[in-house]
Amino acid sequence: MDKCRRMRRMTVHDVPRVTEIERASFAIPWTEQAIRAEMDNKYAVYVVAVDEHDRVCGYAGMWIVCDEAMITNIAVCPRNRGKRLGYALLEELRAQALPHGVRMMTLEVRPSNVAALTIYTRCRFTVVGVRPRYYADNDEDAWMMVCTALEQSFVG
Ligand SMILES: CC(C)(COP(=O)(O)OP(=O)(O)OC[C@H]1O[C@@H](n2cnc3c(N)ncnc32)[C@H](O)[C@@H]1OP(=O)(O)O)[C@@H](O)C(=O)NCCC(=O)NCCS
Repeated sequence: MDKCRRMRRMTVHDVPRVTEIERASFAIPWTEQAIRAEMDNKYAVYVVAVDEHDRVCGYAGMWIVCDEAMITNIAVCPRNRGKRLGYALLEELRAQALPHGVRMMTLEVRPSNVAALTIYTRCRFTVVGVRPRYYADNDEDAWMMVCTALEQSFVG
């Protein structure tokens, strides 16, 4: 198995490390408290990718409401980027969502985020709308993306 390829559900013990990755990944990171609160959110499903020492290399989360899964976060620690972990995390969310009866996955992304857009487009997400000046740090728009083709795996 490739390094960092094992997936498991996030637990409260992972919160400090996930917060570290969050801070290294986003201009407006979620606080440790906000991430911790997700562990008690009955709508939330969070997964982590771990290495052979169970060290977290990346994480992803979503809120499942009715038949929709809204992706909240997906991030890979900087030193493990470019190894297709982003695809693997998104695929893990898809696999976790399906047994809940999810028929649609949604997310928001910056148009400037080429790596994320590459993954989402290849995983059959399409742009369905724009939230103007959504991101407070630079007033960038958000693209709203949706995927309803969930039956087949996202990864080859
Ligand atoms: C987005 C993110 C999760 C991607 O994770 P990753 O494991 O590095 O990505 P992957 O290796 O799975 O694949 C990235 C794809 O984008 C491409 N890519 C990466 N950076 C790129 C760039 N600057 N320009 C063009 N393409 C790029 C890669 O070549 C790859 O495409 P491929 O299918 O042709 O191989 C990671 O970059 C990250 O954590 N970013 C910060 C947090 C973030 O932006 N999250 C998404 C919020 S919507």
